[in-house]
Amino acid sequence: MSTQKSYENEKKLLKNHHQSHLLAFWEELEKGQRQDLLAQIQRLDLDKIDVWVNNFIKKNPASSEICADFAPALSYNSSPAGPEQQRKYAEAVKLGKELIAAGKVAAFVVAGGQGTRLGFDGPKGNFPISPIKNKTLFRIFADSIAAVSQKYQAGCPWYIMTSPLNYGRTKEIFRLNNYYGLDEKNVFIFQQGTLPNFSSDGKILLANKANIACSPDGHGGSLKALYESGALDDMKRRGVEFLSYWQVDNPLINIFDPLFIGLHVLDQAEMSSKALIKSGPKEKVGNFCLVDGRVTVIEYSDLSDELAERRNPDGSLVFELGSIAIHIINRTFAEKLNADDFSLPLHRAAKKVRRINKKGNAVESDGIKLESFVFDALPLASKSVILQTIRSEEFAPTKNATGVDSVETTRRMMTARAADWLESAGVAIPRKPDGSVDCLLEIAPSFALEKEDIKEKLNQIPKIKPKSKVYIS
Ligand code: UTP
Repeated sequence: MSTQKSYENEKKLLKNHHQSHLLAFWEELEKGQRQDLLAQIQRLDLDKIDVWVNNFIKKNPASSEICADFAPALSYNSSPAGPEQQRKYAEAVKLGKELIAAGKVAAFVVAGGQGTRLGFDGPKGNFPISPIKNKTLFRIFADSIAAVSQKYQAGCPWYIMTSPLNYGRTKEIFRLNNYYGLDEKNVFIFQQGTLPNFSSDGKILLANKANIACSPDGHGGSLKALYESGALDDMKRRGVEFLSYWQVDNPLINIFDPLFIGLHVLDQAEMSSKALIKSGPKEKVGNFCLVDGRVTVIEYSDLSDELAERRNPDGSLVFELGSIAIHIINRTFAEKLNADDFSLPLHRAAKKVRRINKKGNAVESDGIKLESFVFDALPLASKSVILQTIRSEEFAPTKNATGVDSVETTRRMMTARAADWLESAGVAIPRKPDGSVDCLLEIAPSFALEKEDIKEKLNQIPKIKPKSKVYIS
């Protein structure tokens, strides 16, 4: 079909869907730009977009209600509650180790976010975070994967989801760093999809005269992207059955946790989660609940104050389990979802968008981005297990440049965890009168992947003096 004919078709269609402005600068575009813009418009599902505009853009989602009856979700404690559970945990650890050693488990980090709050130029995974060596997040994960590979004598493939916006740069970073010493064949970097950005009255925004403003479709986009990128096929070829999923901004992640993997498999779950006990009723994390008998995450903003504050007779919160975006996902579960052409619900986020205004001038203004969340796949799983974890052991997200969940708090938590591991092996750690650690510590993953590894290497640990910086490798 000629460009002119396609133009006429799209113009009519856009008019019917109140999005005619997308062609406002047509006369100023060159031939190639026109074809490109038409292709972008043809990829839009305008009927679906009408529904999104009505359901997510024009409505205030804060007023949306949870209609189903729900209850708190059940979970495994971080350590076994009695002899029977002790046996189960031991069995799970054994099984988890066997599965890792057999190459059945792969690492899967979602790194496609835009990291606007951190305000770092480039992929967040390239942010230098470790307290002494200034290792980037990507390097910390790579070092852990290498150490696990060495410990279990196993291939541990690593899948990395980027967005179209940071794919090229991420690939370049890995290349320039020689894949951090990992075998390039075991590192699979792929892209997630995007969704258009909107104004608050439901108009799709233009990034410039020839391109629609888009942003990544949320970490929930990972389940489709795994399929569309060929990552699922790659896993199948390698015999990988389980994906250990985490977020790129959490350097404390225990990527290959035998207990978590083992419990998930023993209970025949399809997608499982780690949870922590919330620091307070309104902590800004999702709440693990049971909705119609299925594990479901309810966002903190959707849980009423009354439910958030509700307490058990022992004083603990009824809804105490917070989601920290750590999951085990069965490869076959992701395959099944894609075979059924599933879709996850969309959530709206009001964020700054770079775009052009009616006159064609570049501006940065408030806009609406739509995203899906990976935890919305939990209710689609036939079975789902939750394992509690300890915050100081496994969760230090670097979201902001300063303040809560910031670079500073993450670095402090990295030192604090290293101190805790060393102290539990009997190493003396200098502390300030308020109990905080009075030195900087960093433990290389090749030295210890968990507390227990320290005990075997006590003779290699130097005396730790107040105010010193000690890198243990
Ligand atoms: P966040 O919700 O923290 O979003 O993502 P973000 O985009 O990184 O940061 P802000 O909100 O702009 O400051 C949580 C995790 O999900 C990944 C991020 O990379 C991070 O690991 N993510 C998020 C994606 O992979 N794709 C997305 O579309 C969104």
